[in-house]
Amino acid sequence: MKRCLTDSIFIDHPLAHVEPFRPDTRRRAWKRLAGSTLSALARIAGLGLVEVGDNKTVEERRAARERGADWPLRAHTMIGSKRLDNLQYCLETAIEDRVPGDFIETGVWRGGACIFARAVFEVYAQRDRQVWVADSFSGLPPPDAEAYPADKGDKHHTLTNLAISAAEVRKNFERYGLLDERVRFLEGWFKDTLPAAPIETLAVLRLDGDMYESTIQAIEALYDKLSPGGFVIVDDYFLPPCARAIHDFRNARGISAPIVDIDGMGSFWRREW
Ligand SMILES: C[S@@+](CC[C@H](N)C(=O)[O-])C[C@H]1O[C@@H](n2cnc3c(N)ncnc32)[C@H](O)[C@@H]1O
Repeated sequence: MKRCLTDSIFIDHPLAHVEPFRPDTRRRAWKRLAGSTLSALARIAGLGLVEVGDNKTVEERRAARERGADWPLRAHTMIGSKRLDNLQYCLETAIEDRVPGDFIETGVWRGGACIFARAVFEVYAQRDRQVWVADSFSGLPPPDAEAYPADKGDKHHTLTNLAISAAEVRKNFERYGLLDERVRFLEGWFKDTLPAAPIETLAVLRLDGDMYESTIQAIEALYDKLSPGGFVIVDDYFLPPCARAIHDFRNARGISAPIVDIDGMGSFWRREW
């Protein structure tokens, strides 16, 4: 599952492009096309000088995909295999320790991390646990610097390749045979969907909304539903506005459970029993 979801199974394919956290301009798209054509020709000619279309070696690309540090063209998740390992650890520990509740991800993009959570519940026959899939399905909101000064100047809302429709995410679940009534979609801005979401309890809360606003709104709406012994995963802890939201929330609530680094980018903690 992890290799498919991260598209690592095709990491050595000459046409498996990678775009590192930048939207495609026409110039970049042409550059990528030229690069991949050249590398494909070089491979055919037996030169083997450049292995992949983005001028990275297969090893460099594999390392980036492990850390979720690239922008995969067609993978179903961008979080990388180390953060998928962490997600597996949190879900399996919650199951083993009988921590009650569902899984939610706030900020799903193509849905890969949620698909993975649904697969873990399937493997362990966790039929009472649901997977909540929360997203605008149209990208990030423009910054509201008055309410959330930490987001001033944030450009995430301009990244059109972060806007993935709910229909496409559903299709991705179907590709793995994992779309059913235990997958619940919450469509819209977090501030509108999360406070009234019909969720009873959560075992794992995965935050992946990039901005201060998206992080604070999600954790404020959902933390009280997290069972004791449940996990909070903060995918974007390496981004200062997101880390600020987490610290503001923890300070306000007096949370002192240690924050554990996952891969230099994401972090997590376990709620006290
Ligand atoms: C970095 S992507 C998530 C990556 C994903 N977890 C994965 O496995 O690849 C961020 C997502 O958060 C969503 N998002 C961010 N802020 C939001 C908000 N305030 N309300 C709704 N969706 C939001 C975006 O639409 C986008 O799909």
